Amino acid sequence: MTELAFDAWAREVQAEVEGALDSFLPAAASVPHKLHEAMRYTALGGGKRVRPLLAYASGALFGGDRGALARVASAVEMIHVYSLVHDDMPCMDDDDLRRGKPTVHVAYDEATALLVGDTLQAQAFQVLADTDTGAVPPARLVTMLRLLAEAAGSTGMCGGQAIDLDSVGLALTRDELERMHQLKTGAMLRVSVILGALAGRDLAPRELEALAAYSKAIGLAFQVVDDVLDATADSATLGKTAGKDAADNKPTYVSILGLEPSRALAEQLRREAHEALAPFGEQAQRLRELADLIVQRKA
Ligand code: IPE
Ligand code: IPE
Ligand code: MG
Ligand code: MG
Ligand code: MG
Repeated sequence: MTELAFDAWAREVQAEVEGALDSFLPAAASVPHKLHEAMRYTALGGGKRVRPLLAYASGALFGGDRGALARVASAVEMIHVYSLVHDDMPCMDDDDLRRGKPTVHVAYDEATALLVGDTLQAQAFQVLADTDTGAVPPARLVTMLRLLAEAAGSTGMCGGQAIDLDSVGLALTRDELERMHQLKTGAMLRVSVILGALAGRDLAPRELEALAAYSKAIGLAFQVVDDVLDATADSATLGKTAGKDAADNKPTYVSILGLEPSRALAEQLRREAHEALAPFGEQAQRLRELADLIVQRKA
């Protein structure tokens, strides 16, 4: 796998994940049709698939079984997609564009968007729970399910989203801002790295420490860059509404630190991510390349 150039490798993983999601999602022809069609509408055919890429990259480092990695990647992507569907609803960010298409509550209706999120979340745990226990022993699989629940819940993504909504119009301190970002976005990115590794084998404490440092850096960098792109890119490039954070008076790295210091912070986090991977040597090349992608991306 490592002999492929990064772009070719990423395309290969993205195609594999698209196929896995397609096979795990209920058929649109099965009842309830509208719900199943809307789940497929939002989960298939779009997105950068950064969380699956992270899972596959750390999975490769620890010898992860390809079938188990497809389940880990699909599970984290399903939770992520659900978080986007709910994030866009009128009661949250009220956005009508996502991944270049009308958001689910616009293309369908609000109740469908709510249920699409609910069902994608449930389905994520089902997909992971159905991992072949020949590839991942049951005790480790239970640990992985618990880590995913923690990353998605009130001490992870949902907790961060709650803080985000409560912070409109507030001048958060830098520590508060970092905490919000580490929860709402960092938690799911971090768990993608850790679950990918655990799909391979149990980790020694030092390995876990190095991966945790890497994933903490890229988890924060991802949302710093998201804030920068919201302020600097256009909606067509992003596939979502640009300029939304300022319009909604959200505290972001750009509003609190300014544009250039935010870019400099992202670059510093990229370097920290690289440093954290030192113990893994050349083997961690994909994770290094993903840190670069996360910080240098244009959408
Ligand atoms: C957007 O995530 C929302 C955040 C957590 C910042 P992505 O930028 O990964 O969105 P997709 O999956 O590529 O659409
Ligand atoms: C959302 O952050 C993070 C989650 C979806 C959990 P944003 O609200 O900044 O994401 P975008 O910019 O709408 O993608
Ligand atoms: Mg939001
Ligand atoms: Mg949003
Ligand atoms: Mg944003």
